[in-house]
Amino acid sequence: MSTPTFPKRDPSGPEFWDLRYEACFAPWDARKVPARLREFVASGGRARTVLVPGCGSARDVRYFAQSGWTVVGIDFSAEALAAAAGELGEYADRVRRGDFFAPIAEAPFEVVYERAFLCALPRRMWEAWSKRVAELVAPGGLLAGFFYFDAGDRGPPFALNSQAELAALLEGAFERLEDVPVDDSIPVFEGKERWQVWRRRG
Ligand SMILES: C[S@@+](CC[C@H](N)C(=O)[O-])C[C@H]1O[C@@H](n2cnc3c(N)ncnc32)[C@H](O)[C@@H]1O
Repeated sequence: MSTPTFPKRDPSGPEFWDLRYEACFAPWDARKVPARLREFVASGGRARTVLVPGCGSARDVRYFAQSGWTVVGIDFSAEALAAAAGELGEYADRVRRGDFFAPIAEAPFEVVYERAFLCALPRRMWEAWSKRVAELVAPGGLLAGFFYFDAGDRGPPFALNSQAELAALLEGAFERLEDVPVDDSIPVFEGKERWQVWRRRG
């Protein structure tokens, strides 16, 4: 299938994403629950509160809910949430329209789950992302998920150019607990993403 063309929009706003979900063009959508996420949930010992920012079609939200976790998914794209509604069925109330940078009543969370959200944000927004994620994870809580590394500064997806770049964003408030490869990436992220878990300092 050829890549559709879209009118120019800034990915920092919902229209960029609305256009793509409306056209059913979502090459970032894994359409499955990643193995590293399954391992993380299985190894946690108990259900937790978790935020899924930029949840898109929300398969991961459904998985957390099915696993008994208290999950909140937010996305500022109405079209993304329309896609999510089709996935979530009885869990439809776990997602809502909202901006990651606006207040979230349930915060802070024991876990914030990262998948294809940081790389959706233009790099000029990454400092604000790191500040916000430190507010949203409770002390002792975890930022866990997939981080995309590559050369270049164009996107989306906007790649981290090095581990040092991610460390510079997070190390003020978090310490890294885990960093492992990912074996079941979808083509756009293949060989370029790592599963990492960061703990919020208390
Ligand atoms: C690349 S998609 C990833 C979606 C989903 N996490 C996945 O893995 O399929 C990025 C998503 O983040 C959403 N998004 C981007 N900026 C946002 C913001 N500031 N607040 C809430 N959602 C945002 C977009 O609407 C889009 O659905």
